Amino acid sequence: MAADSRAKAATLALRQRLLSSSCRLFFPEDPVKIVRGRGQYLYDERGVEYIDCINNVAHVGHCHPLVVQAAHEQNQVLNTNSRYLHDNIVDYAQRLSETLPEPLSVFYFLNSGSEANDLALRLARCYTGHQDVVVLDHAYHGHLSSLIDISPYKFRDLDGQKEWVHVAPLPDTYRGPYQEDHPNPAEAYANEVKHLVSSAQEKGRKIAAFFAESLPSVGGQIIPPAGYFSRVAEHIHRAGGLVVADEIQVGFGRVGKHFWAFQMQGEDFVPDIVTMGKSIGNGHPVACVATTQAVSRAFEATGVEYFNTFGGNPVSCAVGLAVLDVLEKEQLQAHAASVGNFLMELLSQQKAKHPIVGDVRGTGLFIGVDLIKDEAMRTPATQETEYVVSRLKDKHILLSADGPGRNVLKFKPPMCFSLDNAQYVVAVLDDILTDMEEKLRSCETLRIHPGKHPPNKQALLWSTGPGCRVAAGSRPS
Ligand SMILES: Cc1ncc(COP(=O)(O)O)c(C=O)c1O
Repeated sequence: MAADSRAKAATLALRQRLLSSSCRLFFPEDPVKIVRGRGQYLYDERGVEYIDCINNVAHVGHCHPLVVQAAHEQNQVLNTNSRYLHDNIVDYAQRLSETLPEPLSVFYFLNSGSEANDLALRLARCYTGHQDVVVLDHAYHGHLSSLIDISPYKFRDLDGQKEWVHVAPLPDTYRGPYQEDHPNPAEAYANEVKHLVSSAQEKGRKIAAFFAESLPSVGGQIIPPAGYFSRVAEHIHRAGGLVVADEIQVGFGRVGKHFWAFQMQGEDFVPDIVTMGKSIGNGHPVACVATTQAVSRAFEATGVEYFNTFGGNPVSCAVGLAVLDVLEKEQLQAHAASVGNFLMELLSQQKAKHPIVGDVRGTGLFIGVDLIKDEAMRTPATQETEYVVSRLKDKHILLSADGPGRNVLKFKPPMCFSLDNAQYVVAVLDDILTDMEEKLRSCETLRIHPGKHPPNKQALLWSTGPGCRVAAGSRPS
């Protein structure tokens, strides 16, 4: 039986029987079965079209014909490991090097963002001879044990913070300790890192690396103040550590003005290591670590081979090259800049109209809409956000929410997301917010309803005040 002709309920039953429930679904109350994708659209088993605002992996569009063709053509000829000479891997390294500042001139190829960050950690420890890592609060850097340890987003729910991990505040000028009215938030947040490093050193600890996403995403689509990373780099370098820019979600032109998000910080900032994943292969498992000659030489000096069975194989590199070709040919970075500006403008109008919209921030097609309960405290409107996400899905718009309060709507669609898509999505959001405001005026509040739903899968219901009808939604995982 073709997989996509199986009834949705049967697929769900098989999944529940055969897969761990730790592997969560979006919209667990009413999961979506997606059987086809094209550009910025996904299609379910009934042929219903969804606008995809979530998928920053299908960077140049789902199933882009040129990327699919490149994989197919190379698959017909050869796929083997990188211990043989092959042009694809060197062509690909060459093309990537043209996008990066000159010091970042050595490349390692891998299969996932987690592998890339794990190697970055090894490189930093090897080069510095130090062990400790400074990370930003709420960060996520991957699912390997080494990376769970440096991901407060995860380790807080597990066995906690290791003694070699130091957590700096998220440079969030909307909700963090230094906000938009601070005279120099970049310096203030960087000083937090400086103090963290000093107090670690007083305890005899030595810093190997500062790890950060160039724009923290699970942290709530944060735009660090300009100059923050250069100042942090000074403190980290002084302590003998390296700076790792995790570009796994935000690289490859997504931010519009620049190809890499770290470049938003100015030309004087060059990380020691850059990690890439997700968008690099448009859905094909590709990842990369770029670093300096000096860091790479230190790693080589151990005499231990770096071997990765699938990393850098001819098919992966053909795919990576095709993604770069499409980005150029379709001028998707410039497209992200103009559609992103338009979307920011439309969302800012929503902020002016709806008090629940506390902040709209972003660049290119990396945008966050921070929903709040009250302007004074900027209290996260968590349940309302869940409700909005669920209603958007009912209107066939797939969008997720994140941030410490799970109250930030995240726009990170494929880069071919259009002006029309932006206009449509914001019009639907406007209707949902207007309707919700009316309900909130006439009803009491939203509440989470436990009961018959599986664990961790609660329904959101409107409380049953007079004249209120019940509107159910669900918590996306
Ligand atoms: C910023 C960041 N780094 C690393 C990773 C890990 O990448 P992967 O899931 O490909 O291992 C992710 C995945 O969500 C991520 O968002």
